[in-house]
Amino acid sequence: MSDESQNQKLPGIDEGLASDESILKAHARICREPIHASPVFFFTCMALITILVFGWFYHRRYMGENDPQIYMHERTDIALYRDWVDRPRGPIEYDYFAIGQELYTKMACVGCHMAEGEGKAGEFPPLASSQWVTNEDHTLPTKILLAGLVGPVTVKGAEYNGNMAPYGPALKDHEIAGLVTYIRQSWGNEASEVTLEQVAEVRAEIGTRAQWTADELTSYFE
Ligand code: HEC
Repeated sequence: MSDESQNQKLPGIDEGLASDESILKAHARICREPIHASPVFFFTCMALITILVFGWFYHRRYMGENDPQIYMHERTDIALYRDWVDRPRGPIEYDYFAIGQELYTKMACVGCHMAEGEGKAGEFPPLASSQWVTNEDHTLPTKILLAGLVGPVTVKGAEYNGNMAPYGPALKDHEIAGLVTYIRQSWGNEASEVTLEQVAEVRAEIGTRAQWTADELTSYFE
């Protein structure tokens, strides 16, 4: 029997019949066979690699330098966060005018009372040079902002009969203070600033109530 024909018999080879040389040849052949990795093994490897790569990026981006205080913050936020933590402490200084200026647009006052506080003839009363806004007693515009105003009212000699919603429920004291300060100090108005403490006092005094009518507020002009 030639070596060639013995090789043909592999596998299931009867080793007793095989020559040393043919066994070596058979081994050499087996070693050359390509290894067919199973698809399960392949996909498991891919999944692990994906998780590792994703995890690496995720950790780099969000882990806040492993500081438990800033865990999950984006790295780009860390500087901001540190500034905030290290900020000088003390009572907050409110820039009421700036707060009011922003809210005047955001709360849509500008849609009715207009950009220069000029109002709309016959519909929305002006805030510029309005005796309701610039009253020496700041509690007048504060009350109107907190609880709203409805019914006939005379502003700068002109009659209006509209309805303005209350802003007290939606806005905080410092925001009302901002709005009142802004309208008292814009468009040529030169009345005093109003602080959140002053708003809190008025809010506590009037409580939750229906909209004002101008009649209820006439005492401010006596
Ligand atoms: C939907 C329109 C509208 C919006 C928005 C509005 N107002 Fe008015 N406002 C009125 C009307 C109408 C009156 C008069 C109510 C009446 O006739 O009794 C009034 C009255 C006033 C008054 C007293 C009268 C005057 O002209 O001085 C002030 C002060 C005032 N508004 C400030 C504000 C501020 C500040 C905002 C934003 C937070 C605001 N209003 C949002 C319609 C509006």
